[in-house]
Amino acid sequence: MKVIKVKNSEEAGLSAATIISNRIHNKPNLVLGLATGSTPLPTYECLIADHKQGKLSFVNVTTFNLDEYRGLSGSHPQSYRFFMNENLFKNIDIRLDKTFVPNGLDPNEATNYDNLIAQAGGIDLQILGLGLNGHIGFNEPGTSFNSLTHIVGLTDSTIEANARFFDSKDEVPNQAISMGLKSIMNAKEILLIATGKNKAQAVAQLVKGNLSEEWPCTILQTHPNCTIILDEAAASQLN
Ligand code: F6R
Repeated sequence: MKVIKVKNSEEAGLSAATIISNRIHNKPNLVLGLATGSTPLPTYECLIADHKQGKLSFVNVTTFNLDEYRGLSGSHPQSYRFFMNENLFKNIDIRLDKTFVPNGLDPNEATNYDNLIAQAGGIDLQILGLGLNGHIGFNEPGTSFNSLTHIVGLTDSTIEANARFFDSKDEVPNQAISMGLKSIMNAKEILLIATGKNKAQAVAQLVKGNLSEEWPCTILQTHPNCTIILDEAAASQLN
């Protein structure tokens, strides 16, 4: 696992965007795995800026998002589809029909999603954030390392962490559909970004914890091409 340490979340965004942009330049029809949440926002801002300056085109790129809340349609303002449209897709030249986010309303989506990824040739580069409890995607502690895309129940800690985006905690859906840990590990390259002091414990587990389903992120220790970008606060428990 390659570790890149930077000063703050803005530098993390720049560093991640530079890697993504290089991969797209090398392979314009890149299959890119994407995440939602606060962490990748500075990265998406840099990608949008590169695009607006004419330095980067997504016209041949295909994207697959990690997860979606169950029961929310793509037009719901808290759905991850809506988030991606607002924070990235509508600001770049990607073809919307080449952007995939699990359909939170389709009961068969879990079985379809890994097939869709395989049909696209597999994910070349998967972007990840990191949950406080070490989750990646919505794979909460205890999820099998062999999991493919599946329906998950969200833990209290995740519902609590995500309540900030909803009017109240009660409105946060208690289920999501998420690419599994095996689906994520199938990506040819992985780029995880973690910023902020509240991620320091999960980062310490990710880098030097024992391989354990209790800390889902530890599976990344076994990936042959995984880079993690950390700001100073997130890296603070590493020494
Ligand atoms: C989002 C996702 C989650 C987040 C994680 C961190 O698509 O899969 O695993 O990456 O919960 O969220 P933030 O970045 O908001 O701290």
